[in-house]
Amino acid sequence: MHKFLASSWTKACLFLLCLGPLAAIIWPFVGGHTIPNPLEFIQHATGDWTLRFLVFTLAVTPLRQLLRLPELIRFRRMLGLYAFFYACLHFTTYLWFDKLFDVREIWKDVYKRPFITVGFLAFTLLIPLAITSTAGWIRRLGGRRWRILHRAMYISAICGVIHYYWQVKSAVIRPLLYAALVGLLLAWRAADWLLRRRRTALANALPQRAPIDASR
Ligand code: HEM
Repeated sequence: MHKFLASSWTKACLFLLCLGPLAAIIWPFVGGHTIPNPLEFIQHATGDWTLRFLVFTLAVTPLRQLLRLPELIRFRRMLGLYAFFYACLHFTTYLWFDKLFDVREIWKDVYKRPFITVGFLAFTLLIPLAITSTAGWIRRLGGRRWRILHRAMYISAICGVIHYYWQVKSAVIRPLLYAALVGLLLAWRAADWLLRRRRTALANALPQRAPIDASR
C-alpha cells in the first residue's frame, strides 16, 4: 500500500479521476441530451463538487493518522486545488450565466441574500490558500504561519455548509450530512491539537536530567 501511494502513477491517476466530475458536467451538453434547466444543473453540480473536494482535503490528515499512511499527504494539495477549481467554475457560472457580469447586481446579491454572502466568503477564503499552496510560499511564510493560514480551509468548509443549508427549502438531509462530516473532521483536529499540547506540557514538566560534567 505504501509503495502504491508513493508512486507518481497513483498521483497522475488521481489527477485524472478528479477531472471526472467536470467530464460528467460537460458530457450531457456535448452528447446532445436535453437538460430542463442547464444553469441549475451546472450550478448544483459545481457547488456539490466544491464541497466534496473541501471535505476530501480536510479528511487527508485524519485518514493519514488513523490508517498510518503518511504518503496520503502527497494528495492533499491536489485535492485542495481541485476544490478551488470547482469553486471557480461554480462562481463563474453565477457571474456569467446568472448575473451576466453585472457587478452592481452581484454586489446587491452579496449584500442582500445571506446564502450568497456566506458562499462568497467561502470562495474568497480559498483564494489566498490556493495562492500560498506552493513550496515557495511555505518557505516564505514559515511552516507555523503557513499552517495557521491554512486552517481557513475549515472556515471555508463551514461557510460552504451554511451556504448549502440556507438555500435548500426542505431537503435538509444532505447539508446536515455535510455539517456532520465537517464537524467530525474539525473535532478530530481539535482533539489531536489538545493531545499534542498535553504531551508537550508533560514533557516540559518532567525533571530535566543534569548535563554530564566532562571536567570530573
Ligand atoms: C467554497 C465556496 C462554495 C461552496 C462550497 C458552494 C456550494 C454550493 C452547494 C453545495 C450548492 C447546492 C448544490 C445542490 O443543491 O445540489 C450551491 C448552490 C449555489 N451556489 Fe454555491 N458554493 C460556494 C460558493 C458560491 C458563491 C461564491 C456563489 C455566488 C456568489 C454561489 C452561488 C450559488 C448559487 C446561486 C447556487 C444555486 C442556488 C439555487 O439553485 O437555489 N456559491 N453552492
